[in-house]
This record gives sequence, C-alpha cells and structure tokens, in this order.
Amino acid sequence: MTGEEAIKRAARDIAKAKRVVAFTGAGISVESEIAPFRGKGGLWERYNPEEYAHISTFRNNPEKSWQMLADMLTHIKKAKPNPAHRALAELEKLRKLRCIITQNVDNLHQKAGNTSVIDFHGNTRWLTCLECGRKYKLDDFSLEEIPPRCECRAVLKPDAVFFGEPIPMDALRRSQEEASKCDLMLVIGTSAVIQPAASLPIIAKRAGATVIEINPEPTPITGIVSDYLIEGKAGEVLPRIVEAVGKIGIRK
Ligand code: OAD
Repeated sequence: MTGEEAIKRAARDIAKAKRVVAFTGAGISVESEIAPFRGKGGLWERYNPEEYAHISTFRNNPEKSWQMLADMLTHIKKAKPNPAHRALAELEKLRKLRCIITQNVDNLHQKAGNTSVIDFHGNTRWLTCLECGRKYKLDDFSLEEIPPRCECRAVLKPDAVFFGEPIPMDALRRSQEEASKCDLMLVIGTSAVIQPAASLPIIAKRAGATVIEINPEPTPITGIVSDYLIEGKAGEVLPRIVEAVGKIGIRK
C-alpha cells in the first residue's frame, strides 16, 4: 500500500491500539547517511560479515575487524536523527509508543529523545576492553588511528553484538516479552532475515498483534507475518502517520 489511505489506516490502527511497540532496523537510519547492511551500497557489499564481523576474527585479528568498524563508526559518529527517529520520539510523547526494540547500534533513537529503547544488538556508544573491562566513550576517539586501545594496551571492542556472539540476555528477555504483550508492532526498515531478531514480529503476530511494515520494498515477512506494508522511506512515511495519530487524539 502507498499513499494517503495507507497512512490513515496505520494512524487509525495506532490510535486504537493499547500497547504499541516499534521494531527497527538499518533502514530507519539510511536517511541519516548510515549505510544499511544488505542490498546496493550495503556494508556487507564491501565486507564479508562472516570474515570481518565475526567475534573469532575480532579476537584473533582485531585490526581486520577494525577496518570495517572504523568505516561504520565514522558515519555513526557524524549521524543525526532524521525525521523518522523524531517521529517515533513524538509518538512516545503522545503516549502512543511503549518502547522501541532496535537492531541498530547507532544510538539515534536515544539521541532523538526516546526514553524506552531496547538495544537488541548492543550500542556502539561505548567501547570496552576485553582484557580489563574498562569502558570508554566512542566520542573520545577520532578513529584516525585504529585499532583504539585501552590504557592497558589491549584493543577495545564496541559494545555491539558480533556474529557468533549471543544477544545480551536482558535485551532478549525484554524484547520477547514486549513482542508477546503488544497489540500493534511497527516493523520499520528491516529486511527481517537475521535471527533471533526476525522472530520478534512472529511472536507479536502469534500473540494476536497487528503488524505493520514500513519499508520501500517487500520483505520475507510481508503479507505472511505483517498485516500490511506501507511502501516508502521511513523518514517520509512516519512523520505523516504520527501527525495523523496526533490529530485523531485531539479529536477524541
Ligand atoms: P538490512 O540492511 O538487512 O535491511 C535494511 C532494510 O531497510 C531493507 O529491507 C531496506 O529495504 C530497508 N530500507 C532501506 N532504506 C530505507 C528507508 N529509507 N526507510 C525504510 N526502510 C529502508 O538491515 P537490518 O534488517 O537492520 O546485525 O539487518 C539486521 C542485522 O543484520 C543487523 O542488525 C546486523 C546485520 O548483520 C549484526 O551485525 C549482528
């Protein structure tokens, strides 16, 4: 679905829902100039994830992983929330958004002002020393020299989930709980292929929630798990939906 009718339908569904959860992926940050992972221009076109983003590579050859990380983090450091992030912050202010579960590690939902964000794949705001556990802010490193090192000289690792690493226990538990209790899930800018994240819309659907996708193209869950897809860029579609939700709220 595209256009005004789709926007109105989503706004009506959100307005009448009691417990709305947003599940976001790299697509929501594309308009903040952070490349997605898959597809044209995606990060995995330049770096084989099994090679560069696997925890065993990081442990055995951190310099190699840091080539990919520096590329990604240089964009993340500069990025600002776009209209899609800001629309979700507005939805929270309208008391129509319970939480965001994000696969993104860019911290942009928090920067936009959302206070209830579950970082399913961690967050790159902090770097941790795997040797002594000391933590550093990403912003304190220019990334001109890589890899960044701890005072103890060990290489620092961003607090993001690498391939081969488990999802942080608390994030997994809370996300599954929120997915099973929501009555509407907005699935925004994700290809919905990476597990266990991709199971969250399925959990929501099985529990009886309405699942709405916002994405310029269909995904493997379109029409199977999702009730409908609003085809378009998150930064264009979401502000219109949230504006319409606000108007319904005022009319009530
Ligand atoms: P992907 O790169 O797999 O998918 C991005 C999705 O965003 C695609 O479905 C695009 O069609 C869509 N998209 C592109 N531009 C958009 C826009 N302006 N508005 C809305 N949608 C847009 O990213 P994820 O699904 O987030 O994991 O990837 C999931 C996980 O795979 C990541 O968290 C990462 C990666 O490997 C780890 O690194 C552990």
